[in-house]
Amino acid sequence: MRVAMIGVGYVGLVSGACFSEFGHDVVCIDSDAARISALEQGEIPIYEPGLDELVARNRADGRLRFTTDLMDALQGAEAVFIAVGTPSRRGDGHADLTYVYQAAGEIAAEISAYTVVVTKSTVPVGTGREVARIIRSARPGADFDVASNPEFLREGSAISDFMRPDRIVIGAESDRAREVLRRLYRPLSLRDTPILFADLETAELIKYAANAFLALKISYINQIADLCEKVGADVQDVARGIGLDGRIGPKFLHPGPGYGGSCFPKDTQALMHTAQAAGAPLTLVEATIAYNEARKSAMADRVLQLLEGDAHGQRVAVLGLTFKPNTDDMREAPSLTILPRLQTAGVVVSAHDPVGMGEARRLMPDIRYCDDAYEALAGADALVLLTEWNAYRGMDLQRMRALMRRPVVIDLRNVYRSREMRKAGFIYHSLGRPK
Ligand code: UGA
Repeated sequence: MRVAMIGVGYVGLVSGACFSEFGHDVVCIDSDAARISALEQGEIPIYEPGLDELVARNRADGRLRFTTDLMDALQGAEAVFIAVGTPSRRGDGHADLTYVYQAAGEIAAEISAYTVVVTKSTVPVGTGREVARIIRSARPGADFDVASNPEFLREGSAISDFMRPDRIVIGAESDRAREVLRRLYRPLSLRDTPILFADLETAELIKYAANAFLALKISYINQIADLCEKVGADVQDVARGIGLDGRIGPKFLHPGPGYGGSCFPKDTQALMHTAQAAGAPLTLVEATIAYNEARKSAMADRVLQLLEGDAHGQRVAVLGLTFKPNTDDMREAPSLTILPRLQTAGVVVSAHDPVGMGEARRLMPDIRYCDDAYEALAGADALVLLTEWNAYRGMDLQRMRALMRRPVVIDLRNVYRSREMRKAGFIYHSLGRPK
């Protein structure tokens, strides 16, 4: 089956590569000629474990191509995916749909035989219908259907999320469109992956409702962690105790410094606006957004409180800068709130991240960046662990202790075990666990 994918950002590139791995013939199109020519040279513009091999293999087998020529890509394509960016619009936080509607206009100009036009970008409720309207008004006789197929990929594990999803959600309103998409995902339905068919609006809302629910779940456990500290309970056991209830489930119950990334902050905002405009405000989501912002600042304040004496001039080593491990993505990372706050208080920050330092340097140029995690610890008055990269789990505690001026460890991801840290001579602080 022939598939066209418009947009070679994160979602487009991962989805395009994975569809080609299913055996489909995929052409990825982007107007950014430099990006396309880099991809043609085999250079992958994003950091995602396993993606380079997947792209290389399918290119070599001739199932995956890159082009800037939409007409060429649409030739014979039964499905064309719109996977362009939908950034937050400056000022009002609404999703900016300029690129989505531009893509719809371009498709309208090139469409020839029956095509299913599928939005894969996260788009507000009503966008699919607007895409249909744009194409129909530009080409009244065009033979097409629109569909919505939101993705649930996590950065860092996007390929396995695509290949082994919990479910596939498809918003489509004609049998013909449903048939095309069913064939596209046949390799997964053969493995018994549930496919949920719904109307356009429902499919669009499922994506936002899922992300907002996960953001809410994280904020909930973060608040429970705060409460645990006050009453002497252990959040790890509380999370386990509630997570074993099948109705709650164990995932996304890890306390941390607040969620970040390119999805939860943006999608919760967009959903909040949709709900307000529709006259059905989601006050729980509004509270989550406000709480998560406050949490990032509260984490900086906590670090300042835990430094002994005047913070001014003290040295803090920060391990982990990206919003989560296995990505180089710094978007909305808690580090971007926490580090500047520490600096404003006069703290001297040395930082390390396995892959995020290039972007971090651009965003926070005044930090001292170290190529090695131990180097960041030299002479530190405290260590703050911000992102739970695996590389930090196995660090040599004795070596860490010997390098630091004061053995204070503030673990904002609950990576280490309290008893072990105390035994190694650290003054250890974590989230929601007894001292
Ligand atoms: C998220 C969703 O998990 C995906 O299903 C969705 O497809 C994607 O957004 C999207 O809309 O494109 P992602 O942003 O890559 O994926 O990352 P997550 O693994 O969900 O983590 C988001 C943030 O929550 C991170 O800052 C992470 O540290 C934090 N988090 C996550 C916690 O603090 N605690 C947890 O228990 C889980």
